[in-house]
Amino acid sequence: MATVLTVANLKGGVGKTTVAVNLACEMHARGFSVAVIDADTQGSATHWLNSGDFDIDHDHMPLDGAQGVRRWIRRVLAKEVDLIVIDCPPHLQAVTEAAVGIADIVIIPVTASGADLIATARAVELVHLARRKRRNGAPDCILIPSKIDVRTLAGREITDALTQLGEPIGPMVRQRTAFVDSFSTGQWIGEYARRSAARDDIAALGEAVLTRVL
Ligand SMILES: Nc1ncnc2c1ncn2[C@@H]1O[C@H](COP(=O)(O)OP(=O)(O)O)[C@@H](O)[C@H]1O
Ligand SMILES: [Mg+2]
Repeated sequence: MATVLTVANLKGGVGKTTVAVNLACEMHARGFSVAVIDADTQGSATHWLNSGDFDIDHDHMPLDGAQGVRRWIRRVLAKEVDLIVIDCPPHLQAVTEAAVGIADIVIIPVTASGADLIATARAVELVHLARRKRRNGAPDCILIPSKIDVRTLAGREITDALTQLGEPIGPMVRQRTAFVDSFSTGQWIGEYARRSAARDDIAALGEAVLTRVL
């Protein structure tokens, strides 16, 4: 069965889609078969993956309310791939809960803003809820400092702030215009800027996730 990597936070603009698509492509580049499930009605991941020359299986599968959750879960888990990457909407919706509920690992990008920390605490709460239901310790969780400007105090202090949440903190994804530009050109970072700090960040994230799930 596929390993499910769910990228979630209850806030928009934190880098969920950027992390989801780049992580999926990073894993694909490492030889894994990958499917991306875009669970956000906005469809940014779908738009991105359709706009370029990506060789990645992907489906736009948002859910309107709680109807059809079981069917949604069945459709996702029916994917015959090594890794399923789910890009979640920025709200607490049935689909977010389902994506966390079937995850092997929940990857939570969080920026250095204080407002983010509140949303992130709620996302971590969702992970705890899923763990109470599943009773086998799953899903694993990793907090990813995202869009980090290491020159700022907030950027340097985010790791301290995240420690309070009691979940492991993964390698950070720094703020780089290459991430914005690669989206516009329909490429992932490994194609747009193969030798760059931005790619190094995604490679480190991929490594950290693989170490935890495999
Ligand atoms: N590490 C980063 N550095 C610079 N810009 C980023 C980074 N991650 C995301 N962005 C930009 O921030 C915006 C929101 O990112 P996105 O991945 O769509 O967030 P979300 O899916 O959480 O709403 C986009 O314009 C994206 O290109
Ligand atoms: Mg998004």
